[in-house]
Formats: sequence, structure tokens, C-alpha cells
Amino acid sequence: MFVENLELNNFRNYQTEKIKFSPNINLIVGKNAQGKTSILEAIYYSAIGRSAKTTKDSELINWSKDRANFKLKLLKESGTKEIEINFSRSQKKSIRVNGVNLLKIGDLLGNIAVVFFSPDELKLVKDAPQDRRKFLDTDISQLSKNYFYLLTKYNKILDQRNKLLKSFEDKKLIEQTLPIWDSQLADVGSQIILYRTNFLEKLKVIANKAHSYITSGEENLELEYAGIVGETVEEIKQKLIEGLHQTREKDIKLGYTNIGPHRDDIKLVVNSVDIRSFGSQGQQRTVALSLKLAELEIFKEEIGEYPVLLLDDVLSELDQERQRRLLAYAKNLQTLITATQYDPFMFQDVNIIKIEKGKVID
Ligand SMILES: Nc1ncnc2c1ncn2[C@@H]1O[C@H](COP(=O)(O)OP(=O)(O)OP(=O)(O)O)[C@@H](O)[C@H]1O
Ligand SMILES: [Mg+2]
Repeated sequence: MFVENLELNNFRNYQTEKIKFSPNINLIVGKNAQGKTSILEAIYYSAIGRSAKTTKDSELINWSKDRANFKLKLLKESGTKEIEINFSRSQKKSIRVNGVNLLKIGDLLGNIAVVFFSPDELKLVKDAPQDRRKFLDTDISQLSKNYFYLLTKYNKILDQRNKLLKSFEDKKLIEQTLPIWDSQLADVGSQIILYRTNFLEKLKVIANKAHSYITSGEENLELEYAGIVGETVEEIKQKLIEGLHQTREKDIKLGYTNIGPHRDDIKLVVNSVDIRSFGSQGQQRTVALSLKLAELEIFKEEIGEYPVLLLDDVLSELDQERQRRLLAYAKNLQTLITATQYDPFMFQDVNIIKIEKGKVID
């Protein structure tokens, strides 16, 4: 699939601008604060139903205006899609796909798929386990609604269990009540873990290939699910129940649940070194990139065509060879890359879009 054009009206620092894209690599180039990321933001919005930068839609409307909108024309194997989103300071936003008004934001999803990569994505490798769990959860949720429902259910049960742990009830009573919650938590938790480990099994093979390619074969990336695992839901459930039983004392003392999928992580190892703590900045960036490239391939497998790849400001931290290889990879699909400067030799056959003060210039 690819975005043929995007029309922005009073969106961020734009007035009225129509931008055409090529189905291959597009380099959006300009000085800081000219409107490069805003282009990716609009496309991301039409895929995910919210901005990657803000939860407040009003921030997307040009400061001096009351309304904004964008229209995007997408070409897919199944045909053309026109997505239009209107924002207003006084009314609810409205979304139209091929001229038909959508009632739920959920109906927007699945029209256009994107994989977005920005400097922020480094936290996927570097920061707390929470970001890696979020990566798993958003990806698997996009591919399976059931997973999304399981997560919601799990969090509710977890909440109840933690409330009990924090309560000032008699310790005996807490101990008597806990097994009920343990069983429910393990029941849903084991299903979540099996989804995650199955997804990771696929991801790890593709990410390893992508990583080896980007690093010219110099780095070997290994992924591993860090948590309670097993071959079947039943096995994982049993282990979780035992685990919860063993940490019971600690849980009561600390007032929260210490094991389960809400505490799990992905172990990321490059050439036998834990890259989460010991990787260089460039190495960590490359691992995050490999995970994103693997995401592309998994989406392709699931939906039958490549999503649109959005790369915000990622070139500057990769060395020339890694940049060159990333571009060679990106040629297989539509890619939009933002940058403040570029090497003309490297971007010879690329569609260059120059942006200045919210306008495309020649
Ligand atoms: N609602 C808004 N109305 C008007 N201008 C806005 C609005 N929101 C953001 N801006 C401005 O739009 C400009 C462009 O932002 P954008 O993030 O697209 O820049 P960029 O070209 O990606 O810059 P950088 O190279 O620094 O990443 C910024 O100066 C920003 O302050
Ligand atoms: Mg930017």
C-alpha cells in the first residue's frame, strides 16, 4: 500500500498544502521546525486513530484557526481509500473513509497500516521493561482483538488482587481470599503469555535476519521472553499459580503482585551482551530499528502487503553503511523519511520533498 497524496488544511503549522508521494522512498527535508514531522503525524493519525505526539486533538489545529483537516489518498491492492479527518475546537472530530462517515474510531483502524520509527523508539531498547511490553501489546492487539480483550481482563483482575494486598484486612483473611484471584489471574495471564511467546518466536527469526543485514553480518541479535513460559496454556497456568503462591508473603508485604505478564520483559542480546544495559547508543538504535523492520515483515505476512514505513529523524545516528543498508531495505515499500540534511549521492533515486515554513518548495 502507499499514500499517493496528502492534503493538509490548518493542520499544525500548515495552511493549505497538497503533498504528492512516490510509492518508494520519499525524503522530507528541511530545517528544524518547518513541518516535516507534522506530515508523518497526519499519516500516523489515519492509521492509529490518534497522534504519536499528543493525546489532545486541539493541538493539531493551527493556533490561529478553529478547524483543521487532512485528506489522504491511499492505494492498496484492494483499491483506493480516501481518508478524511476533520478537527474542530468546538465540535467532535469527524472521520470519513471513501466519503462515508465513520461512527467509531475503531472503524478507522485497518484501512492504512504504518510502522513508525522516531528517536523516541530508543526507549524500546534502553528503558524500563514497560516499553517493551507495550511494544508487544500494541502489535499483538493490532493483529488479534482477542488479545486486546485478554489484556483488559487481566488488568482488571490484577487491580482487584492488588487492592486486596493493600487492604488493611486481617492477614489470615487475605491469605484465604488470594487463591481465588490467583486462579483467575493465572487463567488469563497464561493465555497472554502464550500469545506473546508465539509472537516473539516469529519476531526473533525475522529481527535476527534484519539486524544481521543492517550491521553487515557483524552483530547477532537474540531475543528471549523473560518471564514464566511453557509449551501450553495449562503448563503456564500451573507455573503461574505456583509462582504466585511462592511470592505470596512478599506480595502481602509490598502490597502488589510481583510476578506475571505485567512484570515480564524481552531480553535483547547482541553478540552475547545484554544490549539493554551495555549497548552503545548506535547499537541500541539499530536493535530498535531491527525490531521495527521485523514488525513490517510480520504485518506483511498477516495483511498481505507492506505497511507504510515512517522514519522520523533516524538517519543522523546511524553510520553511513547502516544508513545505506536501511535505504536498500526501505526500497521494497513506501517509506517516508524526515531529515534536516542528506547526502545527495545516497539519495539519488529518491523523491525529495523540501519543506519550508509549512510549504513544499522547489
Ligand atoms: N497547532 C499548531 N499551530 C501552529 N504551529 C504549530 C502547531 N503545532 C506545532 N506547530 C509548529 O509547527 C512547526 C513544525 O513542527 P514539526 O515538528 O513538524 O517540525 P520539523 O520540521 O519536524 O522540525 P525538526 O527538524 O525540529 O524535527 C514547529 O515550529 C511547531 O512549533
Ligand atoms: Mg521533526
